[in-house]
Amino acid sequence: MASLRVVLLGPPGAGKGTQAKLLREQFEACQVSTGDILRKAVADQSPLGKEASAFIKRGDLVPDSVIVKLVAERLNEKDCAPGFILDGFPRTIPQAQSLEEILQKMGLGLQAVLLVQVPHTVIVERLAGRRTCKNCGALYHLNFNPSTKESICDRCGGELQQRDDDREETISARLKVYDNQTAPLVDYYRQRGILREIDGVGNVEDIRHRLIKTLEDRAT
Ligand code: AP5
Repeated sequence: MASLRVVLLGPPGAGKGTQAKLLREQFEACQVSTGDILRKAVADQSPLGKEASAFIKRGDLVPDSVIVKLVAERLNEKDCAPGFILDGFPRTIPQAQSLEEILQKMGLGLQAVLLVQVPHTVIVERLAGRRTCKNCGALYHLNFNPSTKESICDRCGGELQQRDDDREETISARLKVYDNQTAPLVDYYRQRGILREIDGVGNVEDIRHRLIKTLEDRAT
């Protein structure tokens, strides 16, 4: 298996988490989802969770200093030694600059930043129908990828739930935050010559193939 050191960039609901899990099966890399780490911390009521909870509920970004520390620690864990797929980080220019510093210290560089592009209308439909297993984190969608038994995870039998921040008013707040604070990263990485743009509309398998093809083209 080839190793991978990439960022998955894209708006909420673009399918970053879905595709990160699939790439992880095909490449030697850990998945670093800052959203998943924060939600677990909130559920565990840890100090990090208590600090992050209000930001997530409002659809705002958690402060850069908190996130950067969390990612630096995660990247030093054993399963990230062969490679990593960053899903939901970086989300601001200062986070991207910190990532460069972290990787420099580790003697590593990013291979590519994969921008998954999806229009806002598709995003709202994807987020409103998303359901997540409370127990194992598996992702479902009420229309596009429903579980066999309503509200029950096919994989582990856990209960499926809707994320607090997938309510309509929070979705629009998250989209504004993306446009204002995260979209500037597109130019940031384009200028560095590592941005690759992928059409994120279509079924999950088609998009997986587009991502793999983009990664293969990069290697040649
Ligand atoms: P986070 O969890 O990172 O949320 P996000 O970036 O808004 O992304 P999502 O998880 O909503 O979407 P996704 O692109 O992963 O899509 P998914 O694959 O699930 O962050 C949550 C919050 O944490 C933030 O708002 C912030 O407060 C905080 N945070 C996190 N990182 C931070 C950072 N770096 N700095 C500061 N704060 C941070 O797919 C969505 C749905 O669509 C699913 O139901 C899926 O089944 C379905 N689907 C996926 N692909 C397809 C397809 N091709 N066709 C049909 N359905 C599809």
